Amino acid sequence: MKIVKHIANLGYGSRKQVALMFREGRITDAAGEVLYADDPVEHDNIRVDGEPLDPAPGLALMLHKPVGYTCSTKDAGRLIYDLLPPRFRQRSPVLSSVGRLDRETSGLLLMTDDGALLHRIISPKSNLPKVYEATLAQDLRGNEADVFASGTLLLESETTPLAPAVLEAVEPRRARLTLTEGRYHQVRRMFAAVGNHVETLHRSRIGGLALEDLPSGQWRALDDADLATLFIHAG
Ligand code: URA
Repeated sequence: MKIVKHIANLGYGSRKQVALMFREGRITDAAGEVLYADDPVEHDNIRVDGEPLDPAPGLALMLHKPVGYTCSTKDAGRLIYDLLPPRFRQRSPVLSSVGRLDRETSGLLLMTDDGALLHRIISPKSNLPKVYEATLAQDLRGNEADVFASGTLLLESETTPLAPAVLEAVEPRRARLTLTEGRYHQVRRMFAAVGNHVETLHRSRIGGLALEDLPSGQWRALDDADLATLFIHAG
């Protein structure tokens, strides 16, 4: 691909704007030599205003989503894209979230521009466990683990029962729930089905990948080792 198009696709501007950036000498190689639009040059050797280019397509990242942000490109209010460099919203291929977290849910959210990777993560075949930490309005009754593990729990207005899920009681009003599905508002609806109410919800892990010490509102790119960790429990 021509580098003007490559850089434009990363969200730096239209092709016309990027061509102008070349003419202005703003695009150099790593040694500071001014580049011309038809120079053959590798992604990693390109600098814009002295800064390395944003990650090439094939980007996957983890975001520690705070409460109050919506997983959407254009809803009213704060969006997950507000937590990323503004250029990331202009990228082609598009950077999308892998599934969604509710606005009031915090925690681990994956994003990628790699459609095949996205489908592999959400595919039922991968069977990736997702771990949620919930605080509840009422004490656990004691039967929830059995109900959730049964494989027969039917949520309101659904026709297929939920796959078995694992509940661990952490405190009377705190539970860790491991799911392999991702139905709409699933955790909140599961607790509603057993007469409780989720007050706070946080996703701490997907597959083998945990948020660890990534602060709220921060993101980091995933490398091949992270992706191997993600799929460690797959299948
Ligand atoms: N289940 C929910 O209810 N909400 C989320 O955001 C994720 C899982």
